[in-house]
Amino acid sequence: MTARAAAHRWVRPGALGAGGLRYGADYNPEQWPRDVWHEDMRLMREAGVNIVSLGIFSWALLEPRPGEWDFGWLDEVMDLLHDNGIDVDLATATASPPPWLTRLHPEVLPVTADETVLYPGGRQHWRPTSPVFRRYALRLVRALAERYRDHPALVAWHISNELGCHNAFDYSDDAAAAFRVWLRGRYGTLDALNDAWGTAFWSQHYGAWDEILPPRIAAAQRNPGRQLDFERFSSDALREHLRAEAAVLAEVTPDVPRTTNFMVCQNIRDIDYATWAGDVDFVSNDHYLRPGELGRDDLSFWANLTGNLAEGHPWFLMEHATSAVNWREVNPPKRAGELRRDALTHVGHGADAVCYFQWRQSRAGGERYHSAMVPHAGADSRVFRDVVALGAELRALAPVAGSHRERARVALLFDYESWWVSGRDSHPSDALRYDAETLTWYRALLDRGVRVDVLPVHAAFEGYEVVIAPMLHVVPDGLRRRLEEVVLDGRHVLATYFSGVVDEHDRVWLGGYPGGLRDLLGVTVEEFVPLLPGTRVRLSSGAVATTWTERITRVGADVEVIDTYADGDLAGGPAVTRRRVGGGSATYVSADVARAGAVDLLRAWAAEVDALRGEPLAADGRLETIVRAKGGTRFVFLANRTDEAVDVPVTGERVGAGGAGAERAGTEPVWRIGPGEVAIVAQPGS
Ligand code: GAL
Repeated sequence: MTARAAAHRWVRPGALGAGGLRYGADYNPEQWPRDVWHEDMRLMREAGVNIVSLGIFSWALLEPRPGEWDFGWLDEVMDLLHDNGIDVDLATATASPPPWLTRLHPEVLPVTADETVLYPGGRQHWRPTSPVFRRYALRLVRALAERYRDHPALVAWHISNELGCHNAFDYSDDAAAAFRVWLRGRYGTLDALNDAWGTAFWSQHYGAWDEILPPRIAAAQRNPGRQLDFERFSSDALREHLRAEAAVLAEVTPDVPRTTNFMVCQNIRDIDYATWAGDVDFVSNDHYLRPGELGRDDLSFWANLTGNLAEGHPWFLMEHATSAVNWREVNPPKRAGELRRDALTHVGHGADAVCYFQWRQSRAGGERYHSAMVPHAGADSRVFRDVVALGAELRALAPVAGSHRERARVALLFDYESWWVSGRDSHPSDALRYDAETLTWYRALLDRGVRVDVLPVHAAFEGYEVVIAPMLHVVPDGLRRRLEEVVLDGRHVLATYFSGVVDEHDRVWLGGYPGGLRDLLGVTVEEFVPLLPGTRVRLSSGAVATTWTERITRVGADVEVIDTYADGDLAGGPAVTRRRVGGGSATYVSADVARAGAVDLLRAWAAEVDALRGEPLAADGRLETIVRAKGGTRFVFLANRTDEAVDVPVTGERVGAGGAGAERAGTEPVWRIGPGEVAIVAQPGS
């Protein structure tokens, strides 16, 4: 990965439980009377909870008036938890400022692009760049750190909470000033900035830094270069806040590891977490299951990316839900078995902690219908019984703790900037979805039984035999070269439509698309041909595009056309091409061929590329195989992706309980893995 991350000290023991997996939740005792705290301790012990995140939204109670502290209740809870053998990931409590602060300093409130002030009454109503907010927040962080530095329950710091969840983009005057400082740092001169943003267009040329504003609502399309830099700046501004809190903690409690919970998931795209991973001592993530048929694979995709943001080291699942959430339009509960399946899929992808939002379902407040480990119905409930059973199983999985993800042979690139930019306005089609396209290819690989790493685009490509780049829209020169090296090295690259089109400033590469990847792929596209809603274009292979096609007008001499458009305006023209370079190759897929089309393409390609053949244990893609390894043992997680039992011959020892059924008669042991179940086998190997 990057030099910064390589120098990084990754912490596992303590916070991540050297002796086993961590299990717990956000704990909000301030919402409950004391007698409930005692019941909580009893139930936590019954469930096997060994860590909680505490104090996340407690600022108003910890500092009831400016500079006046009330730590009494927190002292009591910390002691109680410690007496019950439960460790604490203590929040810095800065996520949500108290009412007195915003009354005293309304200038900390964030402002939207149309200059609407976001008032208190919800949460996270603060400007990431506000010096006033920063001052109050750091005073609280210091007070907490000094108070609890020697408390035996403290094992980790939980900085803020989901930084940017509600305030990722702030268009206030504070933000404007900080944006200008950030731009000066990036460009040095206004000439360089004007060039990067192409401000000759529409009379946007800047003659002074003060003329630059955040991209507030404007009369017409806003400059794309400014949009992209504002997104980068906003992600960096939150990271600055993270760093500022971390610096105070490092000063007062240098030995206590620090983390903040990322939101690596489909519904949050605002923060480039690849640039944040080096700023925490261990990566933490929050993930909420997407309802419907793709939920399981979607969970696997983001867990996989999280594991690779952590460079294969164990990470901390800080939040997920035992059952329903409260913030989608319809919030069905999890089905039988899903609680276990979801938790173990995260563990497979490297989580050494399984934690929930939250311990006890709130009685009041905006999240009263969000599930928890202890539901409104109480402990005599399906959810709590599942919670207790999972706790027992996680204890049995102790041998897995501390193991690393075993690197796959295939990488699927994930690039936050391509996600941001490909979804911009004023494009050939509003229907392009970067996250959906990457998930489509991920699912196709799983369908083929191929084990894959979802890899942040800045990570090293060395060692991957195949690099798949769905809609890799932003391709600066350095990335182009790195992809070319893969192919020159005798390995394989596949890119899909709308890739390579722009540089790091969202300026189009000239000479025809796919721009930065045109030479590598050996084709030139003269025109994009997006499809009107309801249109279907068939390819000769049988694949069907419904969103996007491209007019490929030049195919290099070393390029083979492996699929053509079968109908529509492009009928007879190339749709999928492959350039061969020595033993390597570069494939271009110019249309949205959907999961079925991608599966067929991968199946055919597997005839020449061994890494695409699929794992024998994957049972033709019905199981996802995920591998963690340590000290000469491989832990193979077999996750049933289907609604039917899958029989698979497995050698090795079963780890943990549940999951696979008994061995059956025959020469080889066969495991029956029930629908939606996850079984874990330990095998010798590195
Ligand atoms: C997260 C947040 C939690 C809780 C949860 C509900 O975004 O960190 O505090 O609100 O969502 O799903």
